[in-house]
Amino acid sequence: MSPVKRADLEAVYARLSGPLFRGPIASARTVEELEAARVEALGRKSGLTELLKGLKDLSLDEKREFAPKVQALKAEFEALVEKRRAELEAAADEASLQSLDLDLSLPALAPARGRRHPLAQTLDEMAAIFGLMGYSWAEGPLVEDERHNFEALNIPEHHAARDLQDTFYLQDMPLLLRTHTSPVQIRTMESVRPPLRVICPGRVFRHEAVDATHSAVFHQVEGLAVDKGITFADLKGTLQTFLQRLFGPKTKTRFLPSYYPFTEPSADVYASCIFCSGSGCPICKRTGWIEIMGAGMVHPNVFKAVDYDPEVWSGFAFGIGVDRVAMLRLGVPDLRLFYENDLRFLKQFDESLL
Ligand code: DAH
Repeated sequence: MSPVKRADLEAVYARLSGPLFRGPIASARTVEELEAARVEALGRKSGLTELLKGLKDLSLDEKREFAPKVQALKAEFEALVEKRRAELEAAADEASLQSLDLDLSLPALAPARGRRHPLAQTLDEMAAIFGLMGYSWAEGPLVEDERHNFEALNIPEHHAARDLQDTFYLQDMPLLLRTHTSPVQIRTMESVRPPLRVICPGRVFRHEAVDATHSAVFHQVEGLAVDKGITFADLKGTLQTFLQRLFGPKTKTRFLPSYYPFTEPSADVYASCIFCSGSGCPICKRTGWIEIMGAGMVHPNVFKAVDYDPEVWSGFAFGIGVDRVAMLRLGVPDLRLFYENDLRFLKQFDESLL
């Protein structure tokens, strides 16, 4: 059909593919000029659109031959427009940079570097020492029930430790905020069979008046080792090694008899004062010793509560106050500073200090 039509279209094609539209696109000096050139070349009223519409009047063979050429021309125009647009935008960016009067050679401001909280650093270091001794890390919930926090630890119902004065109980629920990390001992023994060695680090809560050495929130590292034939000598050796790694090889240790419901016998463990090496100073109240933790041999009732046979298994446990160790090692006189999180305070504690 329609050879005339085809000749018309070819004439239009020849005209369009010349410099008529390419020129204005390539030489547009602004985005606005470019847009005008684009509308001329590719817009709804442009010759190219006419050409595309005219394709439908051609025979099938003609269409096959002619349509790809027209499409290619369209694609070429579009590419030209995009290229010119990118050039103009780059030039505009450059111009606005120049006009800003920037000195790109000025050194950048160093971004502020964060660091681990001093309590976290202290806790990590303590955990690392036990890690080297083969202890694994266990965690438990902060909201506990009475069984894990008290009963299974052989703390009977009317024991002073359950006193409302010390324990935060949840309203209308038989739950509380754990007062120590010892419940994680129980949870661990409930879930694995002995032998085992774990530390249980974490946050604990007590209803206490806050002052320089007391906080309602503080941190403990609990430890527990259970095996056949563990004795008090293992407890002493382990804690002595730990304290010497923590405070230095010259550190001496002292074990004084004490009482905890979940251990028998129980001891309070002291390290020679790290400030006066034992000769007596205000920090150790002139005794030469600093109390670091409670410890003892796991009470048979505790084993019974988790279905371990106390005739077969024995073990020791200990509980260390992290905050106190951090105060001693970092020379921080007031516990509250750790919880106020004033950046001027925190910034002093680089990981390298410990
Ligand atoms: N749970 C004790 C407390 O919070 C600390 C403690 C003492 C833990 C002796 C122990 C231990 O495992 O054997 O004061």
